[in-house]
Amino acid sequence: MRMYDVITKKKHGEELSKEEIEFVVEGFTKEEIPDYQMSALLMAICLKGMTDEETVNLTMAMAHSGDMLDLSPIEGIKVDKHSTGGVGDKTSLSVGPIVACFGIPVAKMSGRGLGHTGGTIDKLESIPGFRTDISNEAFFDTVNRCKLAIIGQTANLAPADKKIYALRDVTATVDNLSLIASSIMSKKLAAGADAIVLDVKTGSGAFMKKTEDSIALAEMMVRIGNMAGRKTYAVITDMNQPLGELVGNNLEVREAAETLMGKGPEDFVADVTILGKFMLLAAGKANNLIEAETMVKEMISSGKALDKFAEFVRAQGGDDTYIYHPEHFEKAKITVPVLARESGYVSAINTEEVGISCLILGGGRATKADIIDPTVGIRVLKKIGDSVTKDEPIAYLYANSNEKAEQASVRLANAYSYSDSFVEKPKTLYGYVDENGYHEF
Ligand code: URA
Repeated sequence: MRMYDVITKKKHGEELSKEEIEFVVEGFTKEEIPDYQMSALLMAICLKGMTDEETVNLTMAMAHSGDMLDLSPIEGIKVDKHSTGGVGDKTSLSVGPIVACFGIPVAKMSGRGLGHTGGTIDKLESIPGFRTDISNEAFFDTVNRCKLAIIGQTANLAPADKKIYALRDVTATVDNLSLIASSIMSKKLAAGADAIVLDVKTGSGAFMKKTEDSIALAEMMVRIGNMAGRKTYAVITDMNQPLGELVGNNLEVREAAETLMGKGPEDFVADVTILGKFMLLAAGKANNLIEAETMVKEMISSGKALDKFAEFVRAQGGDDTYIYHPEHFEKAKITVPVLARESGYVSAINTEEVGISCLILGGGRATKADIIDPTVGIRVLKKIGDSVTKDEPIAYLYANSNEKAEQASVRLANAYSYSDSFVEKPKTLYGYVDENGYHEF
């Protein structure tokens, strides 16, 4: 088989066979196929598309390019959760403990933040003592005892995706539904869970800015998951503004803990609740979404989910006093109010810009080598639909450098748009996808 012929076939819009896709993925992972040929194929895929069958074959080939995690030492139906990424998205930190309270094993591999979106691993590492680099044995043992463990992704999980993604990033070939779906699902399938719940974000801070694209991506990922024998659901949720009020690493752990104390912001509670409901459904613990909602709420109001969060933090070496007393987290030295440029109603927030403001403060990474400052971040005071008066604070920045605070402050102030007339608050939850397709909420 020749890579040249595979590129030609896709250039003419023909369907690639399973063997051809496996040849490409294996050859590229082993560095037998050079970057320039792979780039040409990726561009042809972007221009001509892939069928469902090709997408499934690509996903499976990438999933099998490295280790397929065997979670069989963990008892029960293992449920994984994945977000396509956003700003202020600390949902795993709250929903993981809720679901674990029902005895559902959550064995989760998470990533670090890169660019404008944060990463669960960085957030957890802001808890003093917390370890995310534990061995597979310790990982399994923690899940068996506590029902929840979250560790960093190992290098050998879907290595083909890692290499292909790096190339897509620099060849303008990221935004293809089949390539995104196969990239996400290859890692999820390799991570070994029996059931998967996907939080597909939509809006200005998300990968997919348009709702119809988010739905199409969700439908494709659900089809791939179910075809691979994993019960899969996707929920479409809003990312036209930051989720919750706090953005930044220890700030987000703080908000996740406060949410389990019953003091969470409305939009974040809605996201946590809907994901918890689908995770209970996927694990077969709840018969329907109404029953699941009662179950999720009870775990928050009883304080059991907060205790589970503390138990999980202890199990991975962290100091759980920060979970019961999040106000004890180390704080940044400087607090700077960001003021509204106009009077009126907040009509839009460029959420990517909010994420970049946090990155400027030191709360994120522009390159993989950057070191995160866990204390810095943003408290969002005004959201879409809120009325504001010129020079009223719309957010607070928490910083350790005046220079960075000034830079981030300008960026954040410019991220807000205003309208003279009344603006409706956007909805938080759009709909979900199951094996029967999309259902609007
Ligand atoms: N996240 C991924 O892991 N891959 C993509 O292609 C896009 C988002």
